[in-house]
Amino acid sequence: MLTPWNALLRRAQERGYALGAFNTYNLEITQAILRAAEAKHAPVLIATGSGALKYAGSEALASIALGHARAATTSVAVHLDHCTSIEEIVACLRLGYTGVMVDGSALPFGENVDLTRRAVQAARAYGASIEAELGAIVGDEDRARTHETNAAMTDPAQAEEFVRATGVDALAVAVGNVHGFYRGEPRLDFDRLREIRALVDVPLVLHGASGLPPETIKQAIVLGVCKFNVNTEIRVALFDSLRAQLLESGDYDLPKVFGTAVTAMQRVIEEKIEVFAHGQILAP
Ligand code: 13P
Repeated sequence: MLTPWNALLRRAQERGYALGAFNTYNLEITQAILRAAEAKHAPVLIATGSGALKYAGSEALASIALGHARAATTSVAVHLDHCTSIEEIVACLRLGYTGVMVDGSALPFGENVDLTRRAVQAARAYGASIEAELGAIVGDEDRARTHETNAAMTDPAQAEEFVRATGVDALAVAVGNVHGFYRGEPRLDFDRLREIRALVDVPLVLHGASGLPPETIKQAIVLGVCKFNVNTEIRVALFDSLRAQLLESGDYDLPKVFGTAVTAMQRVIEEKIEVFAHGQILAP
């Protein structure tokens, strides 16, 4: 069932688990996300980024995501991921999104606050909730490149000021996390995360969850992360499955080939949901 984004996040925060926000670009990825959520009886977030909306067409992708969310047996929210445009935020809110992410992290602090405030105002007009980002998360959310974790990290004192000044519902932080693949062992700055948690009471979000070991994820949940974004590992499962099938059989039977790829993605998503649940029995 389609469920408000903030209700899901708040429930995760109260109960000490995290939600997976899984990026979709098309029908098959959306199917994999929903099948995994239903198999695990878990709430889930379907994330569509600006790049995906451009690729598939906003209305087409939104109707796939919202249609699947409405038909699901578990709680599902549809969320706009990494957006820098108020117009695009409003367009998604009009289509029925209950959560949007404004990303002013590339801007100077004051400009990020201004953009985020305008986005909060837009979201509130539709009864929706909003996530914003402070600090720079390296990498591009649509590509799968390898990155060093040397970007500007979120400053805890600035995080407190940012949340107070903007009224956002969730804060995406940069604590050594990257989009795409990590170069070497991922090392998150847990002391920084702890300091941010002590000063900020809204749910914290960690982007770039592909490649994070389960123990790292569990520690981040203990320190207040309630939402992890996953994209790269799903796309890798999709392309690896398509490549292997075509090399092995040269079979162009679309339902069979894509169906097998959906199962491969579903497996990856189920594993993530299991770790994010942090030992909790999730209410669907
Ligand atoms: P990954 O591609 O590293 O999983 O990151 C996804 C993400 O943060 C999308 O916003």
